Amino acid sequence: MLRSKIAGIGMYVPENIFTNNDLLKYMDTSDEWIQERTGIKERHFASRTGETTTTMGVEAAKIAIERAGITAQDIDFIVFATLSPDYYFPGCGVLLQRAMKMKEIGALDVRNQCSGFVYALSVGDQFIKTGMYKNILVIGAEKHSFGLDFSTRGRNISVIFGDGAGAVVLQPTEKENQGILSTHLHSDGESAEILAMYNPGTHANYWVKEKLADFDNAEVGEMFMSHAMVEKAQNFPFMDGPAVFKKAIVKIPEAVMEALHANNYQPSDIDLLIPHQANLRISQVVQQQLGLRNDQVHNNIQKYGNTTAASIPIALCEAWEQGKVKEGNLVCLAAFGSGFTWASALLKW
Ligand code: COA
Repeated sequence: MLRSKIAGIGMYVPENIFTNNDLLKYMDTSDEWIQERTGIKERHFASRTGETTTTMGVEAAKIAIERAGITAQDIDFIVFATLSPDYYFPGCGVLLQRAMKMKEIGALDVRNQCSGFVYALSVGDQFIKTGMYKNILVIGAEKHSFGLDFSTRGRNISVIFGDGAGAVVLQPTEKENQGILSTHLHSDGESAEILAMYNPGTHANYWVKEKLADFDNAEVGEMFMSHAMVEKAQNFPFMDGPAVFKKAIVKIPEAVMEALHANNYQPSDIDLLIPHQANLRISQVVQQQLGLRNDQVHNNIQKYGNTTAASIPIALCEAWEQGKVKEGNLVCLAAFGSGFTWASALLKW
């Protein structure tokens, strides 16, 4: 049976590094608080001019394409996952197609936040398996630094996130025991408002009022975007951190176990787990629940923060570059995020 393999992988993070201490200029926080609660020491932020979610995606894609031994002209489909697109519409997929001078191929944007890359990988996998496409570019990229509240009011969210991009080229393989063995995708929209950016949007407060009775945005929901939204700082993401934490530590291990069971493996068979880099403490609880050793889990949130859709391809690329992922290895990707959505992918490298 035709399977998809990752034929090339690349990552890009902007040059500018912001340490926890650099954030003190903008908000009341501390290096100690951030490291203790999240494990994060620093993150990369895009340059103020000329660097966008798409341009970062392009840089990661160039490397993935070169490592796959093909050219941008050979790509026959793009799947671009991001929650921080250059434009509200059109999506980043078409901007990348233009920037990389690709053929007039299909370009699909995936909006599944922190699970975005695994969802995008799963979409690409289906097109390879049916034989429809032979070289699919899957990208996860984010420019969070332009959309966060860096005042003390927004500190519970803004200290967590960073910018960057990761990309893979998927190709078919007929080799037995190689490639993507399975993907599993899930959602539970009941808690959609717990980690969300409401504005700009068309909700007219319909959902927000029902779910968050104390959320003071009665007037600002009347328009897609308004001055009031900006005045009330309601153009920034909202997160109930502890609620996200509690759900993530249940759903990520569940998604890993589901992937393992579907392929007759157990946690001890995993060579490397790449959990979405949401928070180091979440990854540590997941590791503990699955009974994995330190060398079975790759974390790099300390250096990059949470880069949402980019976190898994960045971590996978880094692990591969460090020689932690070799041919024949069993690699599990597992994500959880806003929606809530969660997902896993099991691969034989
Ligand atoms: N610096 C200093 N203090 C901060 C702070 C910051 N950056 N952010 C919040 N605080 C304060 C709060 O105001 C609160 O103060 P109070 O006790 O005086 O009210 C205190 O720290 C504790 O806040 P709380 O939200 O209960 O902290 P927490 O231990 O839950 O940690 C998170 C907050 C966000 C780090 C944690 O909940 C978390 O990581 N959740 C998961 C988030 C996540 O992974 N999101 C991405 C999902 S994909």
